[in-house]
Amino acid sequence: MTHGQPDSALTLRQRAEEKLKTDGDVTSKTLSSEETCQVIHELQVHQIELEIQNEELHRTQHDLEAAKSRYFDLYDLAPVAYLTLSKHGLILEANITAATLFGSTRKELLKKPVTNFILPEDQSVYYLYRKLVIEGKKTQGCELRMIRADGSSFWAYKYATSMQGGEYLVTLTDITKLKQTEEELRRAKIAAEAATVAKSEFLANMSHEIRTPMNAIIGVIQLLEMGDLSQEHREDLCMAKKAGLDLVRLINDILELSKIEAHKIDLEISRFDLRNEIADTIKLLSLQAREKGLELTYSIDPDVPTLLKGDAGRLRQIIINLVGNAIKFTPVGSVALQIRKDAEDTDTVTIRFLVHDSGIGIAADEQGHIFEPFTQADSSTIRKYGGTGLGLTISKRFAELMGGHIGVQSIEGKGSSFWFTVMMDKQPG
Ligand SMILES: Nc1ncnc2c1ncn2[C@@H]1O[C@H](COP(=O)(O)OP(=O)(O)O)[C@@H](O)[C@H]1O
Ligand SMILES: [Mg+2]
Repeated sequence: MTHGQPDSALTLRQRAEEKLKTDGDVTSKTLSSEETCQVIHELQVHQIELEIQNEELHRTQHDLEAAKSRYFDLYDLAPVAYLTLSKHGLILEANITAATLFGSTRKELLKKPVTNFILPEDQSVYYLYRKLVIEGKKTQGCELRMIRADGSSFWAYKYATSMQGGEYLVTLTDITKLKQTEEELRRAKIAAEAATVAKSEFLANMSHEIRTPMNAIIGVIQLLEMGDLSQEHREDLCMAKKAGLDLVRLINDILELSKIEAHKIDLEISRFDLRNEIADTIKLLSLQAREKGLELTYSIDPDVPTLLKGDAGRLRQIIINLVGNAIKFTPVGSVALQIRKDAEDTDTVTIRFLVHDSGIGIAADEQGHIFEPFTQADSSTIRKYGGTGLGLTISKRFAELMGGHIGVQSIEGKGSSFWFTVMMDKQPG
């Protein structure tokens, strides 16, 4: 008998007879009738036991076959293309989905090297990932182009899992559509980015060009103001000057924003003392606050390091924007600037600036938009308070350039608390 194969009924009988001979035949001895009954009983029980065992054996065999056929059905009918490859990359098995994917029959795939179905340019990718699977990184996925029976190619995601005996199981998914969409998106992104930069560059150039004659116009108005004028003409000139200054402010904001968008802004880093910087900035703003009868205060927590290295000019601009807004949108009460430390390590410190006001506040559904360019909380703002809706956008970009964030908490009718953070280097020593 070869190992593992069941005996035929005849050889089984012969083997049993031989064994009986070597072990000694019980029936050759003379038995009493009682002993004979006992032996017959034992034999009957034994026979029934064997029958039961036989039945169970049949059932197990049947279950095994059912499981095997279920496995083949799963393999064959799975919506994923499966290939089983030999150690050397020969296709040993392929399911129906794989055959359909390649537009061929299963027979045409079997026993062929899988590389026959991979585009020559992408074979290096296949070999690289096969090496990884062999080197013990059990499962590996890669993207490569494969060839159909009709010679056309498609993008496939190939996922290989090594199995016992050096074979491996490969699943293939057609990702051609995904690749096309990816490529279209990439092209669209490049085009959109180029368009944004071009637009910002145009804006930057335009606003620069407008600013020069505007400054000349304001200069001439200032010269005229020095002359002998009637009251009426003086008032007219004053209005013209105010409009001119507003325009220059708007142009400056647009110039600043477009420079940021065109990635033409570099931080100007210098050593400065935060304490002096804040004192000067608040002094600048206190005139506006006093004119409106508002209290303007500031505080710096004692643990904030104040000898810093960073872009003091841009930091000042954010503070002017936020405190300026607070003053503008607060009819009565107070505005307070608070400076705290958020985090610190040996070289850097993250500082949090908070601007609280007791002003008109911002409706909850508007709070998300006000950091976008040219956006104001509601359309009546521009009529009542003027402005361009660029201050917060510029402040947000500056805070982000300095490694921080910006945000607001506000209750309509009660007041607002704007905050921003920046990360700055500490002066050594
Ligand atoms: N402190 C504040 N209180 C109430 N509303 C504010 C405050 N700060 C900003 N806002 C709202 O956010 C909008 C955008 O602000 P900003 O970008 O500085 O533009 P601008 O000041 O030119 O209107 C303002 O128009 C206003 O509606
Ligand atoms: Mg503003």
